[in-house]
Amino acid sequence: MATASVTIGVFDSGVGGLSVLRHIRNTLPTARLLYVADSAHVPYGDKSPHYIEQRSVKLTRFMVEQGADAIVIACNTATAAAAATLRQQFTLPIIGMEPAVKPAVAATRSGVVGVLATIGTLESARFAALLERYAGNVKIVTQGCPGLVEQVEAGDLHGIYTRELIERYSAPLLEKGADTLILGCTHYPFLARLIREVAGDNVTLVDTGAAVARHLQHRLLTELPANSSGGDSSASFFTSGEPEQASHIMSLLWGHPVEAIKLPSAYA
Ligand code: DGL
Repeated sequence: MATASVTIGVFDSGVGGLSVLRHIRNTLPTARLLYVADSAHVPYGDKSPHYIEQRSVKLTRFMVEQGADAIVIACNTATAAAAATLRQQFTLPIIGMEPAVKPAVAATRSGVVGVLATIGTLESARFAALLERYAGNVKIVTQGCPGLVEQVEAGDLHGIYTRELIERYSAPLLEKGADTLILGCTHYPFLARLIREVAGDNVTLVDTGAAVARHLQHRLLTELPANSSGGDSSASFFTSGEPEQASHIMSLLWGHPVEAIKLPSAYA
């Protein structure tokens, strides 16, 4: 009897979504994973919602053609811009992600939560609705972080300029009394060590990668029960950018050698 298997397609503007992919791999050790980094179009944070929507539809179509049974939008910015459209256009489970406001509101003792995210996420209607729903009496202070995604894309996780940016972006939040910082972009968990050094040990950092992986597992169990535990444990990595450069940075962040494959030109 053939073993049923599950294929999960995961995408981000670049390599940030690997911070989510590692949780997915831990939660679903046998799943076949496809990861697409839209490196030729990174960053998404300063692009229009329409542009991001078009890219998201293209990348999703590619992953569906490669056999994806479910899609994870491993990007807060693309979720805000494109999740609704993807759910209209595709019938497979589409799992999005958004800044972890609910757990952060539960965690704060000072009553002030800071959000580090892209401008695109912070300006989205989806983020406004999230605050409306979960902020309650907690004060939410936000900070767009232009340039941080680029530092992660360059593999500069500990350098002087990266630290400078983190100091610049976290200072206003800490000054306003934030004791909990939401990492509202999937690139930022790769900077968690540096953010912790800058913000101090008393500050709680919250991100959504693990919760997204659990939610994905739940959707698979309820919607694809026959295949949810099968798969060949493989992981394939695609990029719309330069494969050599992408292989280098992906290997660094994934922790295993990665040979990135160039996306066919129709999707790049
Ligand atoms: N990693 C992304 C996010 O979670 C997108 C960052 C960007 O490309 O600006 O928002």
